[in-house]
Amino acid sequence: MNTPRTAEVMTDHPVIHLDRVGMTYSSRKETNEVLRDCSLSVRSGEFVSIVGQSGGGKTTLLRIVSGLLESTAGTVNLNGQNIDKSLSDLSMVFQKPVLLPWRNIEDNVLLPMEFRGRVTEDMRTYAKELLEMAGLTHAAKRNPYELSGGMQQRVAICRALVSRPSIMLMDEPFGALDAMTRDTMNIELQRIWAETKRSILFVTHSIPEAVFLSDRVVVIGDRPGRVIADITIDLPRLRTKAHRYTPEFYEYETQISELIGAKESIA
Ligand SMILES: Nc1ncnc2c1ncn2[C@@H]1O[C@H](COP(=O)(O)OP(=O)(O)O)[C@@H](O)[C@H]1O
Ligand SMILES: [Mg+2]
Repeated sequence: MNTPRTAEVMTDHPVIHLDRVGMTYSSRKETNEVLRDCSLSVRSGEFVSIVGQSGGGKTTLLRIVSGLLESTAGTVNLNGQNIDKSLSDLSMVFQKPVLLPWRNIEDNVLLPMEFRGRVTEDMRTYAKELLEMAGLTHAAKRNPYELSGGMQQRVAICRALVSRPSIMLMDEPFGALDAMTRDTMNIELQRIWAETKRSILFVTHSIPEAVFLSDRVVVIGDRPGRVIADITIDLPRLRTKAHRYTPEFYEYETQISELIGAKESIA
């Protein structure tokens, strides 16, 4: 496969574009309007986070972008195309790494390629490069249970990158990690993003995590979920841990937590 490794050239149309997306879950007993009139865009190479209260519809929104779920209103375009045509150019990282326990790390990373057909030597080389970038070369032949939670989540990120998607969707990928591991993973992810130039749509309920990682933070208000703010994070790259303690960082945190209206969200 000769897919280019570098990011797509900057284009005018956004790689992800949601126009007035709405979602109402219906059962025989009741209807539940979870999202209403959600519009947002992610440009090529941009890192955008979605924050909001638990139960506010963030996972639902990401599932709609991924094509796993069909919205009940509005439209979703990926790379300027309607959603069903562009699925192969997208990958998803979930809260739990979901690795196959009986396969070693390298073979777990290669799984998406195996689903698509044969695994070539080129693909295996690329998987090794990704593992190296994630600091996991020494673990390539180990099994998942031998790795810590943070390492397993890095494997899941490598697996999401192996098909060279232009878009990565991440649903609270570090939510299950302790605070220190999470901070380290934030720095790792920023580096991986900067090196691979993917467009990332990242869901979190941690405001500091969103501010640290993002070019923009989209705030979803709840019941029903609507986009209530879209904030550009104008902090220099690459960000370090020290940035978290600057007045600018704190201002963004305060602004966003006031919008969400939840003290618990400052994790
Ligand atoms: N498959 C489903 N069927 C019915 N209701 C659902 C389904 N998935 C989620 N919901 C409801 O939608 C709301 C938003 O859920 P979710 O998108 O998971 O929010 P978040 O990720 O922000 O916590 C919740 O009230 C949840 O109960
Ligand atoms: Mg969720």
